[in-house]
Amino acid sequence: MMDYLDPVPALDSPELVSLFDEAPLWSARFGALLLDHLELRPSITLLDVGSGAGFPLFELAHAHGPSTQVIGLDPWGAALRRAAFKRQMYGSNAVLLVGDGEAMPLPAASVDLVVSNLGINNFARPEAVLAECRRILRPDGRLALTTNLQGHMREFYGVFRDVLMRLGKPDDLDRLAAHEAHRGTAISQATGVEAAGFQVTRLIEDSFVWRFADGSALLRHFMIRLGFLDGWRGVVDPERERDLFAALEAQLNAQSRDQSGLRLTIPMLYLEAQPC
Ligand SMILES: C[S@@+](CC[C@H](N)C(=O)[O-])C[C@H]1O[C@@H](n2cnc3c(N)ncnc32)[C@H](O)[C@@H]1O
Repeated sequence: MMDYLDPVPALDSPELVSLFDEAPLWSARFGALLLDHLELRPSITLLDVGSGAGFPLFELAHAHGPSTQVIGLDPWGAALRRAAFKRQMYGSNAVLLVGDGEAMPLPAASVDLVVSNLGINNFARPEAVLAECRRILRPDGRLALTTNLQGHMREFYGVFRDVLMRLGKPDDLDRLAAHEAHRGTAISQATGVEAAGFQVTRLIEDSFVWRFADGSALLRHFMIRLGFLDGWRGVVDPERERDLFAALEAQLNAQSRDQSGLRLTIPMLYLEAQPC
């Protein structure tokens, strides 16, 4: 079948433009790390756990080609509805499952490759999701994860700590330390994967710098408000929240003036493992 010779929708089609515009830059950096290192093999069954609105699920489907069956699994119904729209536009045979990675609606030993881009830090019980990955993978299967690590935005957290030392309470500092530690290190992620019955075969660390003009830009950035701000708010006493965030924004802005903007380091991990 020469379906690739069929015309793509016209460039002025709103549906085509909505595909062109699909992945947040935040997800894209980790997806690029995954695609840099993952060995692409044809004719496999591939599951993306925490596939959200379809990234990198569809990119993986395109990269593997039509001989591969891709499956996306996520409990987020609205995101899967968006992914279903993309599936229709791409003419893809991807299977989209609304469900929890802790109880995958898939038979044992039925999948060749499980990927998860930015999933592991977002799962309430990562150990339960990893146990399910182990169950559904074939004996010669592979697991490939990307995640951010401890040290994430260390420049921001340094300023946050200063502000809490000046104006906060000792409990705020304890909560901040616990919040920073929850991300784990390359070693702790590998240990968690091995505890679920895998042998880690590749651990690749990388990083990028996320830049903002100043603290006011950072605190209003859409991805920050969607993905990070609630965690930061959870660190401070709600009654003092407004004062502490005003001081944090002012200190970030002062630092940005001195350093020509904010540069936040984002350490990334690519982890690959096999059942053992
Ligand atoms: C940070 S988002 C990453 C989404 C996408 N992979 C990307 O790269 O943009 C984390 C995803 O994990 C999903 N998630 C959270 N808990 C989950 C679980 N228990 N099982 C499967 N997916 C889960 C969320 O709904 C969300 O779509």
